[in-house]
Amino acid sequence: MSKLTDKSIVITGATGGIGAAIARALAADGAAITVADLSQDAADALAGEITAAGGKAIGVAVDVRERAQIRAMLDKAAQAFGRVDVVFNNAGIAQTRPFLDITEEDWRLVTDVNALGVLLGMQEAVKTFRQQGGGGKIINTASIAAKQGYEPLAHYCASKFAVVAMTQAAARAFGKEGITANCFCPGVVATPMWDVIDKGFRDNKLTTKENEAFDSFAATAVLGRASQPADLVGVARYLASSDSDFMTGQSLMVDGGMVFI
Ligand SMILES: NC(=O)c1ccc[n+]([C@@H]2O[C@H](COP(=O)([O-])OP(=O)(O)OC[C@H]3O[C@@H](n4cnc5c(N)ncnc54)[C@H](O)[C@@H]3O)[C@@H](O)[C@H]2O)c1
Repeated sequence: MSKLTDKSIVITGATGGIGAAIARALAADGAAITVADLSQDAADALAGEITAAGGKAIGVAVDVRERAQIRAMLDKAAQAFGRVDVVFNNAGIAQTRPFLDITEEDWRLVTDVNALGVLLGMQEAVKTFRQQGGGGKIINTASIAAKQGYEPLAHYCASKFAVVAMTQAAARAFGKEGITANCFCPGVVATPMWDVIDKGFRDNKLTTKENEAFDSFAATAVLGRASQPADLVGVARYLASSDSDFMTGQSLMVDGGMVFI
């Protein structure tokens, strides 16, 4: 028995780099995972991999910008596993744009997924927790970009600062009901998202070589390397388990020592 045995955990962006590492690890701990992402096929593939390994998982298609889809995702999780204990709002997108080039469309695209998506995820999570009689854990994926503004990522940073703000507000709003909200802040993690960011640096002529932006950002980590998705498993496990029951409204930096707050 682990502290996560039979906990029902919903993860959005669960087939991406960080989400999949956490989904696999928490499933191996005994949690029942709702693998939620844009692609039903990708969600089903990861859920199938987890169940083939002896774990519990279902795959659900969700676009976190759509409240009805989030509602359906949580209802499917509750139907499959009896309840929902943890809602992990992890889906996100990034886009590299020099400050003066960010358009209204860029702003809306990035903030709709990263900020509105998290707001909707938290609101619907609270409704589910209340239906179950109270209590529950919300975990959000923020970023070092939630603590520092980086020039060609201003709108991405704004969306991640918003995640911290909403995490704090939700902690204050729902603490008396036993519902906690925390987030963690990865640094530079080797996932498909960084391929997009790195390409954006090159497309905007901010760098010339592949991985130059990735390597130069990662070099600022005092622990001397870029992160791998596995580096985020420990904090996710902690925030999902009863070990973090008396903590709420917090942002945990897990970035190899890039940003000190
Ligand atoms: N990679 C990093 O260096 C880094 C650093 C800090 C924070 N983060 C954050 O970590 C989280 C996971 O990112 P990742 O690095 O694993 O990236 P990733 O691109 O590998 O995964 C992101 C996942 O989110 C999904 N997604 C995108 N839009 C969605 C939508 N509208 N609805 C549902 N799902 C959607 C994608 O399909 C993808 O599977 C994101 O919130 C990201 O901002 C990443």
